[in-house]
Amino acid sequence: MTYLVAAVGGLGFFALSMLLLGVWPGEALEEQIHQTSPAHPLPLSASEQRGRAIYAREGCAYCHTQQIRYLARDVSRFGKATLAWETIFDYPHLWGTRRIGPDLSREAGVRSPDWQYSHLFAPQTLVRDSVMPAYPWLFHGAPDQPAQDARDVLAYLETLGRDRYLAGPEGEAAAKKACNCSEDERKFAFGPGPLNASPAIPLRKGKFPLLPVSNDEARGRQLYSRNCAGCHGAEGAGDGAGAAGLHPKPANFTEQEYAQERLSQALWNGVAGTAMPGWRDIPPADLAAMARTVRNFHQNGPEPALPEGVLELGAKVYAAHCAQCHGEKGAGDGSAADQFPVPPTNFQTQRPSLAASLRAVKNGIEGTPMAPWSGRLSEAEVYAAAYFVRGFYKGGIRKGDGQ
Ligand code: HEC
Ligand code: HEC
Ligand code: HEC
Repeated sequence: MTYLVAAVGGLGFFALSMLLLGVWPGEALEEQIHQTSPAHPLPLSASEQRGRAIYAREGCAYCHTQQIRYLARDVSRFGKATLAWETIFDYPHLWGTRRIGPDLSREAGVRSPDWQYSHLFAPQTLVRDSVMPAYPWLFHGAPDQPAQDARDVLAYLETLGRDRYLAGPEGEAAAKKACNCSEDERKFAFGPGPLNASPAIPLRKGKFPLLPVSNDEARGRQLYSRNCAGCHGAEGAGDGAGAAGLHPKPANFTEQEYAQERLSQALWNGVAGTAMPGWRDIPPADLAAMARTVRNFHQNGPEPALPEGVLELGAKVYAAHCAQCHGEKGAGDGSAADQFPVPPTNFQTQRPSLAASLRAVKNGIEGTPMAPWSGRLSEAEVYAAAYFVRGFYKGGIRKGDGQ
């Protein structure tokens, strides 16, 4: 009798715990997913699925999580907390348990493709102190020659967070209403912050703080060499180890003059459509120190003499061919400016050297909508236009200021 009672009791207890710990939460979760998910979340394409398999095979999940927890620190770093339905196609799941690198559940749209490829090919060329391993076997020998495997990984990365974007405000509202969650959870999952809080996303039109003029040369140098030299080069010539795979190439600071406004904007917002990320997680005083370093790379050469009649011709060419992008007054705000992925240069806050300007007008800038003009304009017209745009510059702080 004792054995029987023990056996029935034991089995009963086992069954009860199965129900309470396995079946019931599973049911509740299913129900929650069903109620909060949009009607047709987008499943992964073949390439995206292959990318997911490579992500699993290469062990990316050992270092990267894919879930934003219900914690203020997570939400402020990565964006709104992950809802159960967001990983509905993620089976077996790749949530990960350890963060050696950042959470990737909202990686879609954070970085440009050339950044992602260069980073996957050799992370330390872009992020000096990164401990992420390199994955050169996913490429044909160069960061801008991704093999199908690397393309698949990128395709997969671009799905992370996608369904929640696509669900849109209606989807958010419906999920918020249906969510069976506490006030606290509601705040983390649906609060007022951005869906994606990455400080690196380039913002095309974002407001930015005007950085103070720093005189901390040493700090600027140190931060520059850690954060920027990989792309822009140790001496600012745009020739860092990470530059090889980027299109457009990182700016060459030795041949540009910048107004403080332009540096503040580029550092805070990044440059849309390029590998230049935003640096909104770095304190403004440190950004200001780096802005100083950037400015001081400029090499003041003698200004070329202005040949007769060049400005008149330049103005004519500019009005006919350039103003629709660069704006009538050179402010980068022409009528067509918004149609292109990379914003046209604002010449009021930035002045290229004559050589750089000529090169850009003749050959265009690879990886941007700035096309070569040498076939379409005469040599004299190219020269005149390249000269003319430099006249828009409104100055700003020059080398040596603020010391
Ligand atoms: C040994 C740990 C480790 C492994 C394995 C690893 N990473 Fe990383 N990853 C990191 C670290 C650390 C960073 C942050 C520094 C940096 O950006 O390189 C990072 C950054 C990233 C970023 C940039 C995120 C952002 O927007 O800032 C992406 C994307 C990424 N990793 C993808 C991958 C992929 C894909 C794999 C697998 C093929 C992988 N990682 C494997 C450690 C790792
Ligand atoms: C991943 C590579 C990369 C890193 C890292 C990087 N940049 Fe850039 N940067 C670029 C690219 C690419 C551009 C865009 C060039 C263009 O618009 O043609 C750019 C543009 C800029 C511009 C605007 C210049 C212009 O002429 O329009 C500034 C200023 C700048 N970077 C400063 C910095 C500073 C300071 C750092 C370090 C905090 C940094 N960058 C880190 C790649 C990088
Ligand atoms: C289709 C729009 C478009 C047209 C038309 C256009 N540009 Fe550009 N221009 C751009 C873009 C985009 C950039 C690249 C900005 C960047 O690299 O960040 C650029 C860059 C430049 C630069 C390089 C600035 C630098 O930072 O070194 C010069 C010089 C320039 N343009 C001059 C001209 C002139 C002169 C014309 C007319 C003959 C012209 N552009 C026509 C879009 C245009």
